[in-house]
Amino acid sequence: MKIFVTRQIPGDSLEKLKVNGNEVTISDYGRPLTSVELLKQSKGMDAILCLLTDNVTAEVMDSIGPQLKIISNYAVGFDNVDVKAAGEKGILVTNTPSEEVDEAVAEHTWALITALSRRIVEADEAVRHGAYRGWEPDVFLGINLVGKTIGIIGLGGIGTMVARRAGGYKMNVVYYKHTRDMECEEKMGVRYCDLDSLLSQSDIVTLHVPLNDSTHHMIDRTAFAKMKKGAFLINTARGPVVNERDLVEALRDGHIAGAGLDVFENDPDIAPELYDMPNVITTPHIASATIEARNKMGEQAVAAILDIFTGNKPQNLVDETIWEKRRK
Ligand code: DGY
Repeated sequence: MKIFVTRQIPGDSLEKLKVNGNEVTISDYGRPLTSVELLKQSKGMDAILCLLTDNVTAEVMDSIGPQLKIISNYAVGFDNVDVKAAGEKGILVTNTPSEEVDEAVAEHTWALITALSRRIVEADEAVRHGAYRGWEPDVFLGINLVGKTIGIIGLGGIGTMVARRAGGYKMNVVYYKHTRDMECEEKMGVRYCDLDSLLSQSDIVTLHVPLNDSTHHMIDRTAFAKMKKGAFLINTARGPVVNERDLVEALRDGHIAGAGLDVFENDPDIAPELYDMPNVITTPHIASATIEARNKMGEQAVAAILDIFTGNKPQNLVDETIWEKRRK
């Protein structure tokens, strides 16, 4: 079987692909492939292991050829793959959700929240630039988190872990999700509310939804206007969930007190205004960048491909019905 891996990944999981005579090609560009490179390199493959930076369109699938069986996406989000087109062609798509990734992203979300609320990045920069003159009563005043309200949009694996950690800060937790999660409400004391009331009562709004048609620009000018004055926005989900131009405006006019952003609308390009705002913390899409999470992602992405080749149903199928269809 021929397998194309679009980029080297951390850990040694790719070694496991090299069994049963599998021919494994790993891109050695060390960067995301252009669409032309992706088309060229993946031709004739039975499986591809790709990253969220690869745009796997219907055209890419057609060019790979009808022997393509699986697109194993090394990410939890799969907005980079045309899942509908894959389904129509009978190609399986898998992703890599796990407790390890949920924990990593939740921890990074809290790193952004605490760094923003205590102005850690600004303060660090000031110290490094020689501004520290000893203790002063009025420098870098932040806010306490205790007693504040955090609004979690999307209470899946990551949102739930974020909520659990809010208990340690003794915060009120409200959430918005398409379907209410009564179990979480009972176990963790989180409170469901609709999107508008979440926005209006939260001191911190944090996003944990996948990117799709219904979440694209979910946080735009209208949503910012509904947010509490002085609130923070955290985005460790996907950039286009937030309208970045509207975010710049909301920050500029002071309606929003700050933002912690791990993802950007036009990744990797960032609205230049954000660089000049001390109340904005940016990280380069590293929320899941822990050794534990990335090892697990590698294991899962590889296991899905090996399962297919041995006729087993892989875990983490994005659309299970395609598996049933292929078996008929
Ligand atoms: C994901 O998995 O979707 C993250 O955004 C990157 O690990």
